Amino acid sequence: MAKSDRERKAAAAARPELRVAMVGHAFMGRAHGNALRQVNRFFDLPRRVVPAVVVGRDQARADAAAQQLGFERATTDLAAVLADPTIDVVDVATPNDSHHAITLAALRAKKHVLCEKPLALSTAEAVAMATLAKRQRVRTGVWHNYRRAPATALAARLIARGELGAVRQVRACYLQDWLRDPAAPASWRTERRRCGSGAHGDLDAHLIDLVRALTGLEFAAVCGLQQTFTKRRPTGTGRGTAAVDVDDAFCFLARFRGGAIGTFESSRTATGRKNHNCIEVYGERGALRWNLERLNELELFTGTGPADAQGFRTILCMDALHPYAANWWPDGHIVGYEHTFVHHLADFVRALHDGTPFRPDFQDGVAVQRVLDAALRSARTGRWVTIGR
Ligand SMILES: NC(=O)c1ccc[n+]([C@@H]2O[C@H](COP(=O)([O-])OP(=O)(O)OC[C@H]3O[C@@H](n4cnc5c(N)ncnc54)[C@H](O)[C@@H]3O)[C@@H](O)[C@H]2O)c1
Repeated sequence: MAKSDRERKAAAAARPELRVAMVGHAFMGRAHGNALRQVNRFFDLPRRVVPAVVVGRDQARADAAAQQLGFERATTDLAAVLADPTIDVVDVATPNDSHHAITLAALRAKKHVLCEKPLALSTAEAVAMATLAKRQRVRTGVWHNYRRAPATALAARLIARGELGAVRQVRACYLQDWLRDPAAPASWRTERRRCGSGAHGDLDAHLIDLVRALTGLEFAAVCGLQQTFTKRRPTGTGRGTAAVDVDDAFCFLARFRGGAIGTFESSRTATGRKNHNCIEVYGERGALRWNLERLNELELFTGTGPADAQGFRTILCMDALHPYAANWWPDGHIVGYEHTFVHHLADFVRALHDGTPFRPDFQDGVAVQRVLDAALRSARTGRWVTIGR
């Protein structure tokens, strides 16, 4: 018999809480905060996620964020939050240079950690994070949310099912243009000490994860090329300029274990492109293409049907049988960017409760970081660089 709304609400309220502290409350803070509030409304989960506390650096701004995003409270005292036994999960939504220190502190306090990408500034940092997480026996996740669009999750399912045959080649690009204007200000995203690298760490990190998630391929070697078109930018304060010591654009070739090959392009100066995150996968028998700007669509070629009527067809991945779609609206009622974060969180909560694997975890973060670092080294030396395991 169908449960009444009141029964459903009572059942949800009785579920054990999963209390989350979120560090950082700007762009990603809003995306994560929205997911934390939405997830139990659309996914039937064994735990009730509670947006408990926002951790910021300025109390007034953190208070405003907590109120707007629906958290119970805000603080600037991370140590006190980590000492609080009622906090289960620490969600790291701060710039890249702070991921390592905040995460290590959270892991020492035995909190589960969800961390933004790229996991760290270097492979050494990422390995330290993954090693401590393992030792502390806590669960981890990296916010590579693009794995969890209905269309990309379907792509992974189709490739795993063998619909394309063995994968031979991937083309991946992630192109934006918000730094195309030399007058665009410097920020933590243009300073290597704070971000590690430019378009590469920012955007290729997602592509590397997406290719691994969709195809299961592992990188064997890479050959990179980078360029910085604007070497100094105005500071954000309006006084003076700051050096830019990261790439504006980055390209690399990849060889995968088993013989497949790939090309990767990232840019924050690709005039006219806003958030063009696109992946193409070519197999022996079939191929597919996905583009974030048409988030719910998957282009698929399977070479079936009459010879004169073959070609790529577009699947709208919003029927109940597509990944995540049934949790939202009736067939064909599309979802957007923010939903990928909700899906990520729903899977994490379920995995945490069931004791099943969650991907991408910090080991996946390390794998991504190894490729990022190898491509940077290659761009500096002009040589192919082999990826260590
Ligand atoms: N998954 C995605 O699609 C995606 C998209 C954008 C950014 N990111 C990643 O998310 C992270 C944050 O990026 P963003 O765009 O939200 O940056 P942002 O600059 O918009 O926000 C950073 C936030 O962190 C706070 N902060 C900075 N240092 C801090 C510290 N030491 N302690 C506490 N708070 C601190 C800032 O006050 C701000 O609230 C980065 O690692 C970035 O690469 C991921």
